Amino acid sequence: MPTVYRGTILHTKSFNEFESFEKGFLAVDNGKIIGVGSNYDQWLAKQKFDATTLKVVQLTDCQFLSPGFCDAHIHAPQYAQYGLGMNMPLLDWLNTYTFPLEAKFEDPEFATQVYKSVVEATLRCGTTLASYFATNNLESTLILAEEVARQGQRALIGKVCSNCNSPDYYVETTDEAVAGTEQFIAAVRKLNNPLVLPIVTPRFALSCSKELLAQLGNIAYRHDAHIQSHISENIQEIQVVKDIFKKSYAEAYDDAGLLTSKTIMAHAVHLEDSEMALLRARGTAVIHCPTSNTNLNSGICDVQRLVNNGLTVGLGTDVAGGNSVSILPCILRALEISKHLDFFKKQNIRGTGSANIPDEYYQQLTYKQAFYLATLGGAKALSLDHITGSFAVGKDFDALLVDVSVMEMPHRKLSVDELLEKFIYTGDDRNIIGVYVAGKRVKRATRCQPQ
Ligand code: GUN
Ligand code: FE
Repeated sequence: MPTVYRGTILHTKSFNEFESFEKGFLAVDNGKIIGVGSNYDQWLAKQKFDATTLKVVQLTDCQFLSPGFCDAHIHAPQYAQYGLGMNMPLLDWLNTYTFPLEAKFEDPEFATQVYKSVVEATLRCGTTLASYFATNNLESTLILAEEVARQGQRALIGKVCSNCNSPDYYVETTDEAVAGTEQFIAAVRKLNNPLVLPIVTPRFALSCSKELLAQLGNIAYRHDAHIQSHISENIQEIQVVKDIFKKSYAEAYDDAGLLTSKTIMAHAVHLEDSEMALLRARGTAVIHCPTSNTNLNSGICDVQRLVNNGLTVGLGTDVAGGNSVSILPCILRALEISKHLDFFKKQNIRGTGSANIPDEYYQQLTYKQAFYLATLGGAKALSLDHITGSFAVGKDFDALLVDVSVMEMPHRKLSVDELLEKFIYTGDDRNIIGVYVAGKRVKRATRCQPQ
């Protein structure tokens, strides 16, 4: 039986195109969108089914339907160290907190407990699509894939690969990394769940030998698989990569065939112009992780510069570099950073330099553009925009039912733009009263807890 939602429907069609229907409708059947727009009666007249069989959900003036959020870069195991070591730079934080924690995922019971919680938490916060890093451990990475499938999230999951420059207790051989990746891809494909996909995951150039990077590039090519990694996050890290590979960070990946149109690279804080051009030529997307970039003192990423250079950009919490599993604070931090950058530029404090846009013409990121990054931008980065990220006939119904009335009683009716703005600036998971993936309601009971 089709369901039709009637009320405010909003989404984006591109970075600069926001679309909304104030008295709109969105009809869903078998998990797919079969109608969306403003003229419900005209749509209904063209349908063959008996209108009395439709289930109608009438939204209130304080509610709207939005596409689900995409967290295109999140480390599932690191949920267990959420909010710790936030004064450290990347490499110290990895050695002090992250590697000892990730090594514990050899224990399947521990892994099951953490992975169950992180998937519950991300769904509660409206993440309908996630790209997860797991750990080096194959068995527990499969536990994550099974947990994602059980809870009904759409996700890409990667067995992390690291064979060098890592602590003795958390490193694998090249053969283990290669065989583990092959086995993981086969096991995920065997789940035969269209929502769950494998993603080839070299941790970062620093922890993978040239040989391993090349073998992983080859695996991704043979299986037509997605690829994810980190790029140009931290100045010290970039220098070490240059010392080892004798070339730029992007070239190190490109030599291994790892830059493809199904590749996402997280951070990209300090990319050189030539690296941006290379990523663009390969169709590789970047994932902006503003909370993490601030927490781990990585730097200010000029997201407008990335967009202006033709790169597809999504948003990532980068938990636990990021201090929230929710994309909402990530949107806010992206907006805040863009404003700070504008202040610096206008105050003539240079050094963040955009090659093709003089500082005085810098445009602050708008909340609608940030909303795009958090929805369709992420889906596009992951080459899944034909399925999710916005509302169109034929796409899956991956959506949030948002209610802003629980924040306070508005003294007047809010416009559609104001509903979204208010949600972004003051909302949290309690305002997301329904989460749907491929038409199935997946949100557990709302709990009030800090994000
Ligand atoms: N670079 C390599 N590993 C990591 C990680 O776990 N988090 C972040 N933020 N950067 C990384
Ligand atoms: Fe990361």
